[in-house]
Amino acid sequence: MNRPTRRIGVLTGGGDCPGLNAVIRAVTKDALNHGIEVMGIEDGFLGLIEDRVRPLTFDDVSNILTVGGTILGSSNKADPSHMPVGRDKQGNIIYKDLSEACLITLETHEIDTLVVIGGDGTMTCAAPFIERGIRAVGIPKTIDNDLWGTDLTFGFTTAVEIATEALDRVHTTAASHHRAMVVEVMGRNAGWIALHAGVASGSDIILLPEIPFSIDAVCEHVELRSTRGRRFTIICCAEGAYPAGGEKIVERTDPTSPDPIRLGGIAKWLSTQIEDRTGVESRHVVLGHVQRGGTPCAFDRVLSTLFGDAAMDLILNQRYSRLVAWQGGRITDVPILEAAGRQRLVPPDEPLIAAARSVNTCFAEG
Ligand code: F6P
Repeated sequence: MNRPTRRIGVLTGGGDCPGLNAVIRAVTKDALNHGIEVMGIEDGFLGLIEDRVRPLTFDDVSNILTVGGTILGSSNKADPSHMPVGRDKQGNIIYKDLSEACLITLETHEIDTLVVIGGDGTMTCAAPFIERGIRAVGIPKTIDNDLWGTDLTFGFTTAVEIATEALDRVHTTAASHHRAMVVEVMGRNAGWIALHAGVASGSDIILLPEIPFSIDAVCEHVELRSTRGRRFTIICCAEGAYPAGGEKIVERTDPTSPDPIRLGGIAKWLSTQIEDRTGVESRHVVLGHVQRGGTPCAFDRVLSTLFGDAAMDLILNQRYSRLVAWQGGRITDVPILEAAGRQRLVPPDEPLIAAARSVNTCFAEG
């Protein structure tokens, strides 16, 4: 056995999501209860590069269970081994490997184990450190629920709750005005949020990146509903959904980010198409970052606490380089190096797709 962990460094990387503070609280309290000191690293891997680290005490993590965001801050740009540091005369971004600076920060603060809370991008940033022998455990975070190796990430269920409530609210206004309403939800290349919120809200059409759609099939379904006396249609659309033969709509690109593409705009395009082709008045709503903000739902508070405890169990049992995971309704763990950079998309045989079809939900496949 190696020497046990005496001081951990905790960081939150990538986009924020509800439950981050609940995890920080769980990890910190559990560690302190075991006599392990806790250092909070600010703004994800950026804080490790820039030596921005502070001790966390019981007081620091008191009363944060229900608070959204992260008390440590986050960054979705900082990949230490490929860090944008400026531009050359031609305007090209200059990248540098700043891993050494991170190692110095770890040494300076005598951090012997990292707790990395993040999604596939953050696990990718952690991978080179693990390969160099740094001790780390991972905790899966993202509203997108698209991290390989786990059935669930914390933050997802809250995002689904928020999206479902928005769809429910849109339902009544769509019915009053006899409109088609297209609601665009987040999820990047994965349709988990759209699928769950779409089913939970009884949306008439659900569009997923995993099932390219036919605009003709969407319009036919809107018209079919009108002929049957249903004079409105609710469409829950993933930001990554796209017409068969077409492409995902990119809202903006950020070349300084390890994940440079930001999707968005499909709902606007779709509502215009529906109105032009069917004559049914259409509107669109983009939920955006609302889905990432605010207090975590009860389930995510529970999951975050379970994940934090499981991460500390890995550390106490000296089982490093593992990512806490949720599989088949139970806590387990998988190798971080296997999860790094791998997305978990909605599979064609996902039972919820079959269940949605059984209640006549249309996926408008192209
Ligand atoms: O990964 C979480 C997420 O909210 C995605 O659903 C979305 O595509 C992306 O992040 C948005 O990123 P940003 O916060 O950089 O706009």
